[in-house]
Amino acid sequence: MKFLYLALFVLLVHLEYLSAADPLLLASAKKAVSRNPADYLSFDYYLNTCPDAEGIIQQIVGAWIQKDFTLAPSLIRLHFHDCAVRGCDASILLNYKGSERTAYVSSTLRGFPVIDDIKKALEKRCPRTVSCADILTAAARDATVFAGGPFWQVPFGRKDGRISIDKEAEVVPQGHENVTTLINYFKAKGLDILDLVALSGAHTIGRATCGAFLNRVYNFNGTTKPDPSLNTSYLKLLKKRCQRSTDLVYLDVITPRTFDTVYYTNLQKKAGLLTTDQELYSDQRTAPFVEAMASQPFLFENQFLVSMVKLGNVEVLTRNQGEVRLDCSYVNSR
Ligand code: HEM
Ligand SMILES: *[C@@H]1O[C@H](CO)[C@@H](O)[C@H](O)[C@H]1NC(C)=O
Ligand SMILES: *[C@@H]1O[C@H](CO)[C@@H](O)[C@H](O)[C@H]1NC(C)=O
Repeated sequence: MKFLYLALFVLLVHLEYLSAADPLLLASAKKAVSRNPADYLSFDYYLNTCPDAEGIIQQIVGAWIQKDFTLAPSLIRLHFHDCAVRGCDASILLNYKGSERTAYVSSTLRGFPVIDDIKKALEKRCPRTVSCADILTAAARDATVFAGGPFWQVPFGRKDGRISIDKEAEVVPQGHENVTTLINYFKAKGLDILDLVALSGAHTIGRATCGAFLNRVYNFNGTTKPDPSLNTSYLKLLKKRCQRSTDLVYLDVITPRTFDTVYYTNLQKKAGLLTTDQELYSDQRTAPFVEAMASQPFLFENQFLVSMVKLGNVEVLTRNQGEVRLDCSYVNSR
């Protein structure tokens, strides 16, 4: 154990040394300028310019979810899909021919009217101040809390991007990928294997269209048989629930509306819905984390919020890198 600490210490010192020797950092050291945009986010970003922003967002998210609970998972997913392409820059909200939002793979995304509603209220209260990317990030946090999940503080200061390309949305995992592909995809965003397993826990609420997993039910890997990693009683249920490929099925068959660790215990019973869910429990790199989450709700809650903050910081635009959109569906005219 002592040796481990020593090794860690040496490593940290070494890293510090490396970064200090970095010419770019050296050049900017006097001004303490950082190269990581996420360092420019802060909890009190709107303290002086729009102190009510978080309260207004929370209130409007709550009102919508109270009317329609299914919006809670949809808002969390929308935030993921925003951050997964060009970072958390609200590019998923842009709504015109050829944008991410209009791509076929985005057709089951929901929650856009909630964001528009919030934006309208915030433009009234503090015009041209709160970015759509920040709204979406806070809304995803609030949706998590309303579903019974953990609260965390959201760092603010994201700017909205001006680019959104439908083809780019196709790189977001669809549910058929192998674990290696998932790990690599997350890694490219600065998210590690623990983040992958913790964030997949969002599938403890919400639904999927049958089309996303129907191959597991009827013709797995080109055979005419079901996926052998599917629990047989669960398989029966899925056959019954899926009459059309557009039918919706809960991602967590036991407690579909509660933000808990049942998603993970389902995997232990071969009752994960998507291929990408179930294989987290069969792959040696991810299975230990599934075990840990399944048995320790406290660990899951804490890791989920840590990973959500990391997700919300992915490739953000800050300061003069983007704009504060006036209408979340369109870039500002110049
Ligand atoms: C690990 C890779 C992931 C894959 C392959 C994946 C795949 C999917 C698929 C296929 C659906 C169903 C879409 C449909 O047919 O309607 C879905 C739904 C959902 N995903 Fe993921 N997802 C992943 C990661 C995430 C992450 C990181 C989050 C958030 C932190 C998330 C949150 C959700 C939620 C909440 C839903 C339910 C949406 C609703 O009910 O409207 N997913 N996901
Ligand atoms: C995972 O999927 C990728 C892309 O489809 C493929 O190239 C790779 O061989 C697969 N890896 C494993 C271990 O199956
Ligand atoms: C299938 O699901 C049932 C009900 O949850 C469970 O009791 C059983 O152990 C599961 N079977 C397997 C092989 O995991």
